[in-house]
Amino acid sequence: MRIVKTENISSNMKLAKPIYYQGNILLNTNCDNLYKYRERLLELEVNNVYIEDKISEDIVINNLISEETRLKGKNIIRRVFTDISNNQNINIIQINNFIEELTQEILNNQKVLINLIDLKSYDSYTFDHSVNVAALSLLIAKSLDYNKQKLIKLGVGAILHDIGKISIPKDILNKKTKLNDNEFKAIKKHPSLGYTSIKNHYEISPLSRIIILSHHEKVDGSGYPKGLIGDEIHEFARIVAITDVFDALTSDRCYRKKWSTNKAIDFLIANANSHFDINILNTFIQKVSLYPNGTLVKLSTGAIAVVKKQNKSFPLRPIIRIIKDDLGNELKEPYILNLLEVKNITIIDEIW
Ligand SMILES: [Fe+2]
Repeated sequence: MRIVKTENISSNMKLAKPIYYQGNILLNTNCDNLYKYRERLLELEVNNVYIEDKISEDIVINNLISEETRLKGKNIIRRVFTDISNNQNINIIQINNFIEELTQEILNNQKVLINLIDLKSYDSYTFDHSVNVAALSLLIAKSLDYNKQKLIKLGVGAILHDIGKISIPKDILNKKTKLNDNEFKAIKKHPSLGYTSIKNHYEISPLSRIIILSHHEKVDGSGYPKGLIGDEIHEFARIVAITDVFDALTSDRCYRKKWSTNKAIDFLIANANSHFDINILNTFIQKVSLYPNGTLVKLSTGAIAVVKKQNKSFPLRPIIRIIKDDLGNELKEPYILNLLEVKNITIIDEIW
């Protein structure tokens, strides 16, 4: 299995995972002739799909959470957004139960390096993003040895972190061009607005609420709304600051295409010390596959390969399958190379 850009779908590819659109299955894995749907998928802005083809048939992609859990989480958070905008009570028991399930799934995931590529459809970005930020935050907290109670409080705050965006006009949220000063000012209100909107929900822990209020603070004091510095920002919010930016960068947005895992991690590292807590960031990086299974990569020799498997503790040197030689000629017999055993060859780029 591997991920390809929808524009690169060809007739020898089969769909490996269902494609969802507006909460429903748009195309299932048993569909014949995937190529036939290429134009329609592009029209619907489904930019990437999981496929199975000859070079990827034995490649396993270990996602952080199952598709079932993701869908369930999306529906719950969608409901919360609707309830809050209709001034109705939110079903905190349902949120708590879901976060408990999500926590258990992440605690049970024994994979050392996890593939964090998850295809988010453009139409449901906010809900996908909320579930992802919760899952990624719990992944970090698992490494920090949080107890169950602390994990749940973190998870609830993380899934609700952007609840304040309900109060921001949609044309500003979905603007494709650069925001002007006034629009940026409006966006910057979402943490305080979110915090106020759940103020009377005493069943939500103060520790969960602090995430809603403080997830845009930066460790050097240049964040908002309060300009808190370093440890003044609660650890929960420092975790979500990282997972929020990582997930946003690796998602297709209305104003730019998704970044590769590698590029996103590079951005986080470049902003450690000013924006992010460096210790928490290091914990996160230890868990991420920089070149996830199924990724196409270019090597320093000029050859092209697909990532087959990860080497524990060596995220830059996975086991790969060479599919094009140094001159770019397609190989009739692709072969496996363990980058741990050939130190003079490196991955120089990820190909999308
Ligand atoms: Fe936010």
